[in-house]
Amino acid sequence: MPETLTLGGESKEERYQSLMPQLSALMSGESDDIANMANVAAVLKESFDFFWVGFYRVLNDELILGPFQGPLACTRIAKGKGACGQAWLNNETIVIPDVDKFPGHIACSSLSRSEIVLPIHDADGVVVAILDIDSDETDSFDHVDKQYLEALTLLFKKD
Ligand code: SME
Repeated sequence: MPETLTLGGESKEERYQSLMPQLSALMSGESDDIANMANVAAVLKESFDFFWVGFYRVLNDELILGPFQGPLACTRIAKGKGACGQAWLNNETIVIPDVDKFPGHIACSSLSRSEIVLPIHDADGVVVAILDIDSDETDSFDHVDKQYLEALTLLFKKD
């Protein structure tokens, strides 16, 4: 296993293009989802200097904080609550350009200004976890993040 991943390119898209095959190789060598979540959070945080990168896992019909990088965060989120709970309930990626304009947003940190949340599915398409990334600037996420991060969610174990 490499000690660090190589971060190629200058643009966001080039960075994702460089990281994706490396993350795919890293994750295909490990069957444990929590270990993979931990490394994905570390790699995304280091590569893009996001404010917060982490996972919430669906356990007993609520979201519970999983591996993350960044400041302290809320530990439990109910279905339908906040961006994460809505992404789970509606089974869809949500891009939030300005958290202050998103109804029901849960502010784990007042420094978070924009956010993207993506569901992770099991083999039956059931949501088993949420990938949540926060930025301390508005408008940090767009279709490029959505495209590559959705591809990343597909790399998690499906059984
Ligand atoms: N903002 C999220 C809560 C999780 S934190 O951002 C880490 C939400 O509204 O669901």
